[in-house]
Amino acid sequence: MTSLARVLADAGGLPSGWETAFETVDRAVFVPDRVWVWDGTSGYTLADRNATGDHGRDAWNRAAHGADVLVTQWDDGHHTGDEPGDTPTSSASAPAAVARMLDDLDITGGENVLEVGTGTGYTAALLAARGCRVTTIEVDAELADQARKNLARAGYPDVVVIAGDGARGHPAGGPYDRVHVTAAVRATPPAWLEQTRPGGLIVMPWGTYYTGSDWTTVLTVHDSRHASGPFTDPVAFMKIRDQRRRWSGTTFPDDWMDNARQSKPDIEIADITGALYEPVEFVIGLHVPGCIPARVVDPDGVNLWLYGADTGDGESIAVAAFGDGYTPQAVQAGPRDLWTEVQSAYHRWNDAGKPAVDRFGLTVTASGDVRVEQRPWYETPDRELPFRH
Ligand SMILES: C[S@@+](CC[C@H](N)C(=O)[O-])C[C@H]1O[C@@H](n2cnc3c(N)ncnc32)[C@H](O)[C@@H]1O
Repeated sequence: MTSLARVLADAGGLPSGWETAFETVDRAVFVPDRVWVWDGTSGYTLADRNATGDHGRDAWNRAAHGADVLVTQWDDGHHTGDEPGDTPTSSASAPAAVARMLDDLDITGGENVLEVGTGTGYTAALLAARGCRVTTIEVDAELADQARKNLARAGYPDVVVIAGDGARGHPAGGPYDRVHVTAAVRATPPAWLEQTRPGGLIVMPWGTYYTGSDWTTVLTVHDSRHASGPFTDPVAFMKIRDQRRRWSGTTFPDDWMDNARQSKPDIEIADITGALYEPVEFVIGLHVPGCIPARVVDPDGVNLWLYGADTGDGESIAVAAFGDGYTPQAVQAGPRDLWTEVQSAYHRWNDAGKPAVDRFGLTVTASGDVRVEQRPWYETPDRELPFRH
């Protein structure tokens, strides 16, 4: 048993049926010579296989044989040097997260699988070790090339590695029984529905503009235009390249508040604030499409700014101010009442008894080559939430 397989097994983390694959595939074969490891508190540090000292070979060995996520690329490969870059753009995912998502794929062996986001090739190797026919797509040509070499070296030369945009899928290899996405999306690409056979599954991290957190959703494909399924677990994945948050702040006229609509919040800021994987903010995001929050804390209290983005509704803005010694105030302007939407979303969730995220799900309907309508639901697909994504 590899040390990693032992760590995962001891943690009770190996899903049934995947034991042999995790034991057979040595993750270290897929880990590049330079990786950045989260130090547990303040940032990432380099572990360099070819260096000596604290961040040299021993650190690399611990990282490569351990169970942590390892950043393998910053800033789309434009970053150089030993310090971390600005944005991690590829990683060797945490094996426990890989295992959880593979479990969601419901593999019995022999399925035809499309993986989106090859990265190092490790997940593709696990799928191949499980007897699947695997096509995997990586947007970064250099990473794709390296993954191809890693897979051959590990004994999986039959995995087809494509350099390209995974949002387009790879029709030549379809129809697929499973589409396994190891980068997160906000909008499901229609190609994945078209290229999956009816009854097949799409397993992907999905999230909204409202939070940095994503949840895995397991969609059952009904036909080439319709798929639906529940959210399962929280996951942390980088967004696929063309769905990163590009919105950098709209310039509103200085006097926007003069004509804004005013109201008094009937909830506290604490009601709508949670840690990364607590449900509250994710659930609000399910109700309030295309809304980016920004929390500004100052000595007087907290201002929650809300910006409308990517909804085609024009520019909307709101701010709700909370603090000691004054009554909370909200002002909102533009076509949407963003504060009212957020507050109503909280009330709906609260009135339902604050259900966990796995009681919600998503229905995806493709209405053309590029457009999808995404409708989150509660309990069953016919109980749609009021706002559509
Ligand atoms: C978290 S890593 C995947 C980890 C990988 N499955 C493994 O086992 O090592 C996400 C990868 O998705 C890739 N990616 C981002 N956008 C993509 C896209 N549109 N198509 C294909 N790959 C994409 C990134 O370059 C990155 O390598």
